[in-house]
Amino acid sequence: MPPQDPHTPPLALVMVGLPARGKTYISRKISRYLSWLGYQTRVFNVGNYRRARLGAAQAHAFFDPTNAQGVEARRQLAMAALRDMLKWLKGGGQVGIYDATNTTGERRRLVLEECGKAGVQVVFVESICDSAVVEANIREVKLGSPDYVDMTPEEAADDFRARIAHYERSYEPLDDPELAYVKLIDVGRQVVVNGVEGYLCARLVFFLMNIHTDRRAIWLTRHGESEYNVQNRIGGDPELTALGKGYAKNLASYIQERVPKSQEFVLWTSTLRRTWQTAEPIGRELTQWRVLDEIDAGECDGMTYDEIRRERPEEFRARAEDKLRYRYPRGESYADVIQRLEPVIVELERQKRPVLVVSHQGIIRGLYGYLIGRPQEECPHIQVPLHTLIEMTPTAYGYEERRIKLGPELG
Ligand code: F6P
Repeated sequence: MPPQDPHTPPLALVMVGLPARGKTYISRKISRYLSWLGYQTRVFNVGNYRRARLGAAQAHAFFDPTNAQGVEARRQLAMAALRDMLKWLKGGGQVGIYDATNTTGERRRLVLEECGKAGVQVVFVESICDSAVVEANIREVKLGSPDYVDMTPEEAADDFRARIAHYERSYEPLDDPELAYVKLIDVGRQVVVNGVEGYLCARLVFFLMNIHTDRRAIWLTRHGESEYNVQNRIGGDPELTALGKGYAKNLASYIQERVPKSQEFVLWTSTLRRTWQTAEPIGRELTQWRVLDEIDAGECDGMTYDEIRRERPEEFRARAEDKLRYRYPRGESYADVIQRLEPVIVELERQKRPVLVVSHQGIIRGLYGYLIGRPQEECPHIQVPLHTLIEMTPTAYGYEERRIKLGPELG
């Protein structure tokens, strides 16, 4: 769990930027990251309020700053989302992400005022992108938006460019030294920070410095079957079984077919032999990370689940009651594991090359939980079977997942 300071007010991250600058992409990334770290986090997207209340078919004229009716309708939608966010923060939420354009000083003052009245701290997050990033975003994300179901791609792209032009006419980039803000230029290429302080915000800035919008596959897998898996024993540093070695071969063929030798590739394992033995047949340079070692079962390391139940019944019961917080005597809890995985997450975000992580059940649960945006409570219960490769392909705002059973089948 994150450190809780009762004197720390709830936080609103207020997005700023023209349309197609990746605000929603960034909002969702922040939300996944903070939820996974244990903060109650939620995104309030004003575009969704518009689509829900007015339908999805507003042409660009709706966004014209000289269209008084449009301006008023948009103000009301923005206020409705803001009110909902403040209500949620008052009810125990910790970080609200206000995903809207907020491109005028006037709108930002209004947001600040409302947050101030509610005792909510505000940090603005502005996204500025060059035209190539914007065009790619229009093509890859916006044309698939519910706003454009009835238009050809060309009509939709033209309408969206006209929408951007309306916002450009009234856009005032952030430059008030009194405000706390983070300016992201080309999503992570350059980061400008002003007036941001505190543990959570500093951590967030570090995270934002490492994200980007390049798309590449991430593969996650447990090691092949080990001698301990067969005996139902936990921890240790056992060898692979013959079946486990079979999985290593199958995994190697699968990866080699998809990542040609000429392509750069990142291969991470833990320091335990069952993981690097699984990765070695791929024939690529690999990095062993100690932070990718399996959850430390402490005094229970090397025991079977049955032995723990019989010999340490109080431990067995305590773990069944709260698998996230339960800490093995002289070992770790899942909450500890999630904390130690944070550098891996940041490094995973930073990488622009395809990545394969060969690790262990508890660790893959933690990493996968992050990628699919699961809160901490759910991570210890995620199913991660042996001999199954999890393939995560980036989509507009997250990942599409495929689970590939590579065999050999286990008895
Ligand atoms: O059983 C294999 C294993 O990797 C153990 O080494 C580890 O303790 C366990 O899985 C983690 O799974 P769970 O938290 O469900 O016991």
